[in-house]
Amino acid sequence: MINMFHIYKNYEGAITALTDITLKIDKGDFVFITGASGAGKSTLLKLMFCMDRPTQGQIIIGGKNVSRFAERDIPLLRRKMGFVFQDFKLLNNKTVFDNIALALRITGMDNKDINKRVLKVLAYLGLQHRANFKPLTLSGGEQQRVAIARALAKEPTILLADEPTGNLDPERAMDIIRLFNDINARGTTVVVATHDKALIERFSKKAIHLDKGRIVN
Ligand SMILES: Nc1ncnc2c1ncn2[C@@H]1O[C@H](COP(=O)(O)OP(=O)(O)OP(=O)(O)O)[C@@H](O)[C@H]1O
Ligand SMILES: [Mg+2]
Repeated sequence: MINMFHIYKNYEGAITALTDITLKIDKGDFVFITGASGAGKSTLLKLMFCMDRPTQGQIIIGGKNVSRFAERDIPLLRRKMGFVFQDFKLLNNKTVFDNIALALRITGMDNKDINKRVLKVLAYLGLQHRANFKPLTLSGGEQQRVAIARALAKEPTILLADEPTGNLDPERAMDIIRLFNDINARGTTVVVATHDKALIERFSKKAIHLDKGRIVN
């Protein structure tokens, strides 16, 4: 489903974020990406979501070499991918409902279906009562759940989540991973970046450990 071959990512200022990453994530996998702050977890997920390009190496997603993709090819690829951003990236001038609905509108779904889908994910994440609130009036944990709801609304075949439990208390964090587990059990490939060792230990899943941009075991 996701293959990376000898991926390098350098940022401006001679920062090497990833060095020689080769990995394979199969359809239906649930994989944790772990490592200390600065290890390259977010960089790795962003490359999978084509938010940035590798300095070197190949990325194959669903059989397509996305490292060669033109800008115009990217939206179609993303229709099947949900991404939970570490910093949420919610639109603060839109309601919770609209934040989620917008992600669906761009796929051309009709309004009736959008409404149904948004209400369903809001209920799923216990956020029905926040539908008409603006993101900045919510707690950090609630904003995080909106970011998760938005990613799930697309019913993606691949879910990429960057520290999706960073703002949640341990019990809620477990709930979110359980929820990802359910989604995974229904066939979605799930990739979660986290530095939360308790989560990784509690859920014995495949894990890719990063240390200063390299895979270690
Ligand atoms: N846009 C950028 N420009 C320059 N350097 C960057 C950029 N994004 C990340 N880096 C650097 O790349 C390295 C890896 O960063 P990354 O955000 O991938 O780490 P991380 O494992 O997600 O860390 P955290 O756990 O703190 O989120 C760090 O040294 C970081 O400073
Ligand atoms: Mg990060």
